[in-house]
Amino acid sequence: MAGIELRTHKHPNRADVQGVHSLDRIVFAVPDLDEAARFYDAFGLLTERHGDRLDLRTHGHPHVWASLFAHAGGKRLQYLRFGCFAEDFDAIAARAERLGIPRLAPHALGDADGLWLLHPEGFPVQVVVAPKSTPDHKSDRIIEPPAPVGRGASLNRARIPKVRPRRLSHALFFSGDVAGAIRFYEDVLGLRVTDRSADLVVFLHGAHGSDHHLIAMAKSEGPGLHHLSWDVGSIDEVGRGMEQMFAAGHARGWGVGRHVLGSNYFYYVRDPWGSYAEYSHDIDFVPGDFDWRSADHPPEDSFYAWGPSVPEDFVVNHEIEKP
Ligand SMILES: [Fe+2]
Repeated sequence: MAGIELRTHKHPNRADVQGVHSLDRIVFAVPDLDEAARFYDAFGLLTERHGDRLDLRTHGHPHVWASLFAHAGGKRLQYLRFGCFAEDFDAIAARAERLGIPRLAPHALGDADGLWLLHPEGFPVQVVVAPKSTPDHKSDRIIEPPAPVGRGASLNRARIPKVRPRRLSHALFFSGDVAGAIRFYEDVLGLRVTDRSADLVVFLHGAHGSDHHLIAMAKSEGPGLHHLSWDVGSIDEVGRGMEQMFAAGHARGWGVGRHVLGSNYFYYVRDPWGSYAEYSHDIDFVPGDFDWRSADHPPEDSFYAWGPSVPEDFVVNHEIEKP
């Protein structure tokens, strides 16, 4: 696709570092695929139905970021697929073997490519050789030129174009065993902890260059999907995205605000299953030749720099079975 080339080989200066470079796909199930398609269309994604599967893409980008399947019981994380360079695949497989990570048969909803591993919290993780879908550089800011003197800079509401996120930035998962999950992601997959607030929330990036976090984990009673975060080009787009979702009937969410860890401006809209889709702008970037110094931040000082109060149910894991 024009303008976007996905890298397929690692930089020589990271020859001695082996690890996944991208969160290649998130696969989860929801009760109603039609409702999901309406929600993500309104959000500004490109939804593509293939039989019983709904793929999520971004306009102008070749990658499929997530796939959804129907599941009567409610939203459920099914499996995660990470991408690596061909040069790193054998080393990742050997580490999994050495650390005694169980190998799995391919998931019923997946394919037979690469390696299927059992995450310590019981869900499958696939590792495949794939082009690097996470970017190599911090994403561009869209800066509007100043309006000519005598004319207002803001468009009238009717002329405001729809916000269309450019790519997936990251995903946040619930975890009932944050320490065990970190060991898996670091020691097997080669991700690195960027920043954390004890075991309450932990952010990990890819050693070959990624946003401040490719994945993050929030402490819970078990695994689950909290949010998918989608990159947009300006704070204005974050606000317009919020308004776009209000207009589509999705009034619940959190924001607009700015995080401290990651520094991104955000608006989270609640999806029909109690998890969230995030419009994210200007997240920090960890270059592929830079060793970020990980730090532990007090949560009250680092969750967000400014924004409205956090909704009471913002970190409820709806994938936990209630007795
Ligand atoms: Fe996020």
